[in-house]
Amino acid sequence: KMTRFIDDLLQKMTLEEKIGQLNLITVGFDVTGPVVSKDVDASIRRGAVGSVLNTFTPTAARKLQEMAVKQTRLHIPLIFGYDVIHGHRTIFPIALGLASSWDLTAMERSARIAAEEASADGLHWVYSPMVDIARDPRWGRISEGSGEDPYLGSQIARVMVRGYQGADLSKPNAVMACVKHFALYGAAEAGRDYNTTDMSLVRMYNEYLPPYKAAVEAGAGSMMSSFNDINGVPATGNKWLMTDLLRRQWGFQGFVATDYTAINEMTAHGMGNDAQTSALALNAGIDQDMVGEVFLKNLAQNLKDGTVQQAQIDLACRRILEAKYKLGLFQDPYRGTSEKRAKATMMKKEFVADARDIARKSLVLLKNSNNTLPLKKTGTIALVGPLATRQRDMIGSWSGAGDWKQAVSLEQGIRNAVGSSVKIVTAQGANFTDDEQMIARLNEHGGELNVDRRSAEVMIQEAVQAAQSADVIVAAVGESQGMTGEAASRADIGIPAPQMELLKALKKTGKPLVLVLMNGRPLTLPWEDKNADAILETWFAGSQAGNAIADVLFGAYNPSGKLTATFPQHVGQIPLYYNHKNTGRPYAGVALDKYKSRYLDLTNDPLYPFGFGLSYTTFEYGKPELNTAILPMNGTLEVKVTVKNTGSYDGEEVAQLYIRDMVGSISRPVQELKGFQKIMLKKGESRTLTFRLAPDDLKFYNTDLQFVAEPGEFQVMTGPNSRDVQMTTFTLVK
Ligand code: IFM
Repeated sequence: KMTRFIDDLLQKMTLEEKIGQLNLITVGFDVTGPVVSKDVDASIRRGAVGSVLNTFTPTAARKLQEMAVKQTRLHIPLIFGYDVIHGHRTIFPIALGLASSWDLTAMERSARIAAEEASADGLHWVYSPMVDIARDPRWGRISEGSGEDPYLGSQIARVMVRGYQGADLSKPNAVMACVKHFALYGAAEAGRDYNTTDMSLVRMYNEYLPPYKAAVEAGAGSMMSSFNDINGVPATGNKWLMTDLLRRQWGFQGFVATDYTAINEMTAHGMGNDAQTSALALNAGIDQDMVGEVFLKNLAQNLKDGTVQQAQIDLACRRILEAKYKLGLFQDPYRGTSEKRAKATMMKKEFVADARDIARKSLVLLKNSNNTLPLKKTGTIALVGPLATRQRDMIGSWSGAGDWKQAVSLEQGIRNAVGSSVKIVTAQGANFTDDEQMIARLNEHGGELNVDRRSAEVMIQEAVQAAQSADVIVAAVGESQGMTGEAASRADIGIPAPQMELLKALKKTGKPLVLVLMNGRPLTLPWEDKNADAILETWFAGSQAGNAIADVLFGAYNPSGKLTATFPQHVGQIPLYYNHKNTGRPYAGVALDKYKSRYLDLTNDPLYPFGFGLSYTTFEYGKPELNTAILPMNGTLEVKVTVKNTGSYDGEEVAQLYIRDMVGSISRPVQELKGFQKIMLKKGESRTLTFRLAPDDLKFYNTDLQFVAEPGEFQVMTGPNSRDVQMTTFTLVK
């Protein structure tokens, strides 16, 4: 039915109208590049626009949609897209935080709520999930993805697509997912945004591509090309990537849009002028040009010149029309939106309650000596640091239509939790940074940093005074929301200098020091780890950040998050990730072992490994036990492990299972996550968990890019994180 409908429509379309469908313009405020669309109304009316980005609210979207369906020759509706990344109006933790919950149901719920709100706001298409594997925390966009692991990343990709799209895209509360950034954006050299990637195919297939593939398999309706080049060819003009891999090998049926002006940017990549990059992109398999209007300006001439074929334009146009059809836009271009529905949907009570619950699941307790946490609801707390009272940063970067003024600050959250039973003394204590260049750059868009121009000493002194009068110090330090995200790479990923000075002065007071970290990337925290009494990683936890953090600080919720990206000791160790290869000279930690793969001045260990996170209770793991030591190719391995809550609180634990393929036709990682279970154990309770692995789970891509499980010995490791595991072995046989 769809094919016939679109065949008929294509028959009626002029070349200009077809090219118009390939044009995605921005009408609104979130500008992340140099180009802004002009002559919007006239362009829509003459059929030169296929989709719109950055316009929402039922009224604003309806105005443009009416132009398209009432005033164009063929009445073809527009698709409205937007960066709904970790919530739309109700904001959830940034993606790296969400991933740290290891709670797939919670993540799917966050996507579902985002879809409910976005669709009620006139949107059809969300630029999420961002599934780029990232192992370089200098890259600011590590905050937008799920971290360093392809297995976990794939699971998350699947549930996010399902959460957004539901079972039927034509339902008015479903939105189409746009999986980004295809591909390998997270591997940008030196962690510098938009930079080159150059990678072997084996590494790509095994380590970086799985989450994109998982999203495709989950039925994602669209993909976004990435800015980077891949082995010499920009992703946006890369036919191998967009056609051979995505469509022929993976069978992707949806459409591909570029990232913002990515076709134009191929000129700077050295791919030629607009006419050339236009042909390159279309022939590669790109269907829609985001904002750059390169297709609009060049495709007709490209066709005359013979650098593109009519069939390719038709195909791209067909894919856009198919997306519109699947979204039900030809039946109801407004998809039942109204201001009334929007009002009843946005930040509904239950959405906000879920945001609080999901946020607290995402917090990771990194240190807690002498049971400093949870805090008692008595005495005086010195709440200091640049993030202590701010609302602005709570919702993090790419927080869509989220309103930071509706976010709960840490101070407010603490006050809500303790009422008048605790005295709270606040002091900013330090600016985020004293780097004037960074301040100027962050303030360029939206003036996010209010820099206090008093001297650092005076500010520190104020905080020290507050600390001296208190029983405990809660120092909220880290990054402002703009210090991570797009175009926010950092060469030094420590807590910035003025905040470090503050922490050192606070330490000298001798008062218990609790750090509440807010940041969008793994940080280097060697001093903090040594000197703080407790460290709680809270990312940017969203609309309910303050309440969620207070729930953990005062023990209403026992922390259960675990890291999904390694925290290095030092920036010089990057890239540092748990699933690395062995070398021929592995370093075993013996101090005088010089000719080994190591640094002279530092161990190879991370500060906090992948999968790490503490609880207020303690868990003891038994040894993994297998149903068989010999696994045939048609068999199933059962791994049983007993976990006991040995502490004095009920708590949730993420039990993890890793494997190592000991001998392979290519070298294999020293560990690979292959399973996890998040369970709740009452104090004293113990449970035996069963993980099942089939030979398919042991497969990898060999040098011929065949997906194979090779017979031989495997290690199975289970434990609370990637470091503290217990191991046993089995053999896979033919
Ligand atoms: O979705 C984003 C992308 O992640 C970065 N460039 C702009 C796009 C649309 O706003």
